[in-house]
Amino acid sequence: MSALVVENLVAGYGDARVLHGVDLTVGEGEICAILGPNGAGKTTLLRALSGVIRTRGKVRLDGTDLAGRSADAIARLGVAHVPEGRGTFMPLTVEDNLRLGAFVRRGKAAIEEDLERIHTYFPVLKTRLKQAAGSLSGGEQQMLAIGRALMLRPRLLLLDEPSLGLAPLVTRELFRIVRAINEEERTTVVVVEQNAHLALGIAQQAHVLETGRIVLSGTAQQIRDDEQVAQSYLGYRV
Ligand SMILES: Nc1ncnc2c1ncn2[C@@H]1O[C@H](COP(=O)(O)OP(=O)(O)OP(=O)(O)O)[C@@H](O)[C@H]1O
Ligand SMILES: [Mg+2]
Repeated sequence: MSALVVENLVAGYGDARVLHGVDLTVGEGEICAILGPNGAGKTTLLRALSGVIRTRGKVRLDGTDLAGRSADAIARLGVAHVPEGRGTFMPLTVEDNLRLGAFVRRGKAAIEEDLERIHTYFPVLKTRLKQAAGSLSGGEQQMLAIGRALMLRPRLLLLDEPSLGLAPLVTRELFRIVRAINEEERTTVVVVEQNAHLALGIAQQAHVLETGRIVLSGTAQQIRDDEQVAQSYLGYRV
């Protein structure tokens, strides 16, 4: 069963159209990788899914129509977006950032429970709870951003370039944790990544976006195994 169904999605900024009719489906509990060159519209796609920008077309999550709803309403329906550049509030403490992630939720006990669970994924955050988010390393900030997103108890987690600016070892650890979250929480994930190798390592399905159109779709394995595809569409070997 598909958790996310996107049909003929059109979006852009002002008069400039960036997405020209994107179709994709993501199965329940799956990880879907969106690959593609700079400026392809990857970030725009995630913004369209989370309601940050206006769209035309169909977006359904577990059968519920998201298209045309506000970002706030879409968050309430269980879509958590970790934007490019992470979107953490630097002057606030780690704990306050995490709690902000639960802003649309009620039920204090469940929120406290989730804070504890997030510490099991990101033990380093537990030791930094009272520190300003701005004092964390880049990798820790990305962990905080994902931890904050998890506080929403998302059904769908949107990750925009989680590896950006991070050292390879840190990035590998981060992707390992994303996989663990996906497996243990059964959260459906859409991850935008320039590092195709890493993204294909955790994803089941992948799509290549080029100038606002999906030019190639397949299983992560198919895309990984096809060197020609990698060279012509991604511009490099995976
Ligand atoms: N806020 C904005 N206002 C106007 N145009 C924008 C805005 N953000 C992005 N664009 C344009 O939309 C197009 C797609 O940009 P987008 O950021 O979605 O690409 P991307 O695939 O995420 O690229 P990157 O790999 O560099 O992050 C680009 O031509 C970009 O210049
Ligand atoms: Mg981007």
